[in-house]
Amino acid sequence: MPSAAQDIPVRNGSGAANDLSRTVTSSFSALDRGGLAGSPTATFHHSPSSHRSGSIYDRASSAKPLTPFNTQDIKVLLLENVNVTGQEILKKQGYQVEAIKSSLPEDQLIEKIRDVHVIGIRSKTQLTSKVLSEAKNLFVIGCFCIGTNQVDLKAAADLGICVFNSPFSNSRSVAELMIGEIIALARQISDRSSELHRGVWNKVSAGCWEVRGKTLGIVGYGHVGSQLSVLAEAMGMKVIYYDVVNLMGLGTSTQVSSLDELLANADFVTLHVPELPETMNMIGAAQFAQMRTGSYLLNAARGSVVDIPALIEAMKSGKLAGAAIDVYPNEPGSNGETFNNQLNEWAAEFQSLKNLILTPHIGGSTEEAQAAIGVEVAESLVNYVNFGTTAAAVNMPEVTLRSLTHDQPNHARIIFIHKNIPGVLRKVNEILGDHNVDKQMTDSRGDIAYLMADVSDVDVAQIKRLHGDLEDLGSRIRTRILY
Ligand SMILES: NC(=O)c1ccc[n+]([C@@H]2O[C@H](COP(=O)([O-])OP(=O)(O)OC[C@H]3O[C@@H](n4cnc5c(N)ncnc54)[C@H](O)[C@@H]3O)[C@@H](O)[C@H]2O)c1
Repeated sequence: MPSAAQDIPVRNGSGAANDLSRTVTSSFSALDRGGLAGSPTATFHHSPSSHRSGSIYDRASSAKPLTPFNTQDIKVLLLENVNVTGQEILKKQGYQVEAIKSSLPEDQLIEKIRDVHVIGIRSKTQLTSKVLSEAKNLFVIGCFCIGTNQVDLKAAADLGICVFNSPFSNSRSVAELMIGEIIALARQISDRSSELHRGVWNKVSAGCWEVRGKTLGIVGYGHVGSQLSVLAEAMGMKVIYYDVVNLMGLGTSTQVSSLDELLANADFVTLHVPELPETMNMIGAAQFAQMRTGSYLLNAARGSVVDIPALIEAMKSGKLAGAAIDVYPNEPGSNGETFNNQLNEWAAEFQSLKNLILTPHIGGSTEEAQAAIGVEVAESLVNYVNFGTTAAAVNMPEVTLRSLTHDQPNHARIIFIHKNIPGVLRKVNEILGDHNVDKQMTDSRGDIAYLMADVSDVDVAQIKRLHGDLEDLGSRIRTRILY
């Protein structure tokens, strides 16, 4: 798989980077691929987390790679066998990368984290406030996974440490699983397969259907839902969708105005909404009553979205002809643990139902998704380290400036993370006041504000003075200058 980071300008640093320093990208190819999330929704979704605007500027053909003013070598620690796609992107930048296959116990983690500027983890490494308080040089964390519960995001923000993850790299994998399961449900494949595993030959056509011409109702038309829409139409299905946001449908799919309308008109209903108070048990007894008799329900969103006892009743009454469930209110913590009534009190009754496909939260679990996560998070880290871009950050305001270019050799980029209190901008602008500020952007998120400014015609002595003056401000959390 080609690395999209081939297109990121390589910073002017040590080691491998020296050969490539001041290399300029000449391609928008990564952008042409629609971003690493690979979602067609990136073109029309409004959510700031749905697109990666920062990359546009950072990969512009005239972008100048920047060097941190007060950090010589960028040291990166990657734990938990981060995908090789991500490792390669970081190494190519000339960063000193140490990759370890496992997570580390707290004492060893504290020892290691003291020294590094960047850490990449997956879901097992716990970055608690205690661990982060020891990480004196750390300024960015990459979670090479979807969730960020393993990081104390508030503590990280308070220390000026930016956190990135990869929420959408597995959308396609989920959509493809849905397609497989729609056909499997329509043909009762899981029942036939388990019968034959037990030696039972049961060749039936009653109650088995083609999916061509059937209606798919997608609830939540985001990254997964919209991917699924395209695939389903390719199989000859009619697609309707319901979303709280007004969205333009892909292909000939059409948005309906209420969940009830969708439920009443769909043969297959798939759920792709986030876990929110409003989506808790959004499919319960009243919604099953609205559904067509003999229809199917698929849930690969979150376990809290479906009232499972109500689903059991709908299956037993024949209202539903089948269901495929990938996510559960309570899920085992690790492989090998048992899924039983201790975990969810309805488990045994549920497991006994016919034409019910149960999978252990594997919707996004593919090799491709892991590779895409490696690329997406590594690119976010590089864009942050080299350009200060916080687009798609989990715990910082999203701030992006267009790149400095090669015909701006004496420009510097000031990054000032500070407490969000009155009067700070006046003081910062007093410090920057003797210089020409080409462009400046600031935004806040809760207690934390992030300011980025490009100043022109500064020499190293002036950069040093600017750095010192900003560091002396009482509101200062972290100052970085790139030039
Ligand atoms: N099973 C898995 O392994 C797996 C993998 C990836 C994602 N997911 C889950 O799938 C779900 C969808 O993921 P996504 O990446 O498409 O998210 P997304 O944020 O891109 O899209 C969610 C969509 O749901 C809509 N929405 C929000 N509240 C709604 C409501 N009450 N009614 C109708 N629509 C509503 C939003 O407007 C948005 O368009 C999430 O819950 C995610 O956690 C599961």
